[in-house]
Amino acid sequence: MKRTIRELNDIKGKRVLLRCDFNVPLDNWGDIQNANRIDAALPTIKYLVEKGAKLIVCSHLGRPKGYDKFLSLFPVAVYLMKSFPNKVKFCSKVFGPEVDLAISKLRDGEILMLENLRFVKGEEENSPTFVKELCKICDIYVDDAFGVAHRKQASNYGVALKKPNAMGFLIEKELEVFDKAFKNPAHPFVAIFGGAKVDDKLNLISNVLGMADVILIGGGMAYTFLQAEGVSVGNSICSHELVNDAKTILEKAKEKGIKVLLPVDHIAECNGKVKTVRQPEIEGEFVGFDIGPKTTKMFQSEILKAKQIIWNGPLGKYEDKRFRKGTEKVAKAVANSGAYSIVGGGDSVSAVQEAGVADRINHLSTGGGASLKLMEGKILPAVEVIDSI
Ligand code: 3PG
Repeated sequence: MKRTIRELNDIKGKRVLLRCDFNVPLDNWGDIQNANRIDAALPTIKYLVEKGAKLIVCSHLGRPKGYDKFLSLFPVAVYLMKSFPNKVKFCSKVFGPEVDLAISKLRDGEILMLENLRFVKGEEENSPTFVKELCKICDIYVDDAFGVAHRKQASNYGVALKKPNAMGFLIEKELEVFDKAFKNPAHPFVAIFGGAKVDDKLNLISNVLGMADVILIGGGMAYTFLQAEGVSVGNSICSHELVNDAKTILEKAKEKGIKVLLPVDHIAECNGKVKTVRQPEIEGEFVGFDIGPKTTKMFQSEILKAKQIIWNGPLGKYEDKRFRKGTEKVAKAVANSGAYSIVGGGDSVSAVQEAGVADRINHLSTGGGASLKLMEGKILPAVEVIDSI
């Protein structure tokens, strides 16, 4: 069993470095567009503050190459101030004399938010120098950054190897939810997969083949599967080099008696003209961008029979209003199903929120890539390095 913050003794007065995933969408004004990931980390922050830690919070934001004023974590520090009035300070550096000074002034139960870790080279490469600098500023390391736990970086992997450590409540809950869903699923178990890219989903579908009763496939990835069945897909996105892998998955599913449902109609576009294609085949230059009404009904009917649902990836080009209906209707069906439901991946989580049904989903995962790895049955490197007890 991995150590959690509950099992940490003597936190009071200690410099605790807390790694969060505050990689949140910001608009041009620096306003946070979706604070889910910050809210989900609040219980851990609150616990450590109440225990009297001198809390140093760090995170990445975006993928900057050096300093980028649009990717500063200052707005996140301001957001935290609402939950912890008069307790949050911000330092515009990651380490160095300014950080040392700010830490020396921290009182027990106060929070210092550091600037974006990726502004300094070495974080993503897990460089020993970066790790050493982080180790200098803390006595204890706590990881609550589930969204980045599939990566081996200095602030979530390197530092954990060198310091007494524990995981926070957010990571603990994410692991518990996925573990239970896969080791002891409720049946019928319906898995819904979408998104544009098929390559990062094939391993995951193979893993789920051993557990799910029904697999619903939509989004851009569906066209590779349709092609594998010999269905023409027009100009739709298709990973030709993966058609054989998709075929193997479909054959295995058949052998195991697992139902895999692919779109039987589409909303497609060609030169700005949008039409409903009322059959599985897409002809000519048209590009499929959403599941059609017949597919949506077929998916809804499976969803409403489910006792457990896992969903990753939108079922159409969700960012374009013309192609979001299928995803929206599926989000509502998942919420109405009464099944135990887990939704992972930034776009599917946003879809559920925009459909106004987020409060009726059992678990909204804070990690896209990390939850995909868990669904593939992989161990997350940043979790692996947390001490066992
Ligand atoms: C995410 O948003 O998926 C995580 O914060 C990880 O970000 P990254 O893919 O840039 O490492």
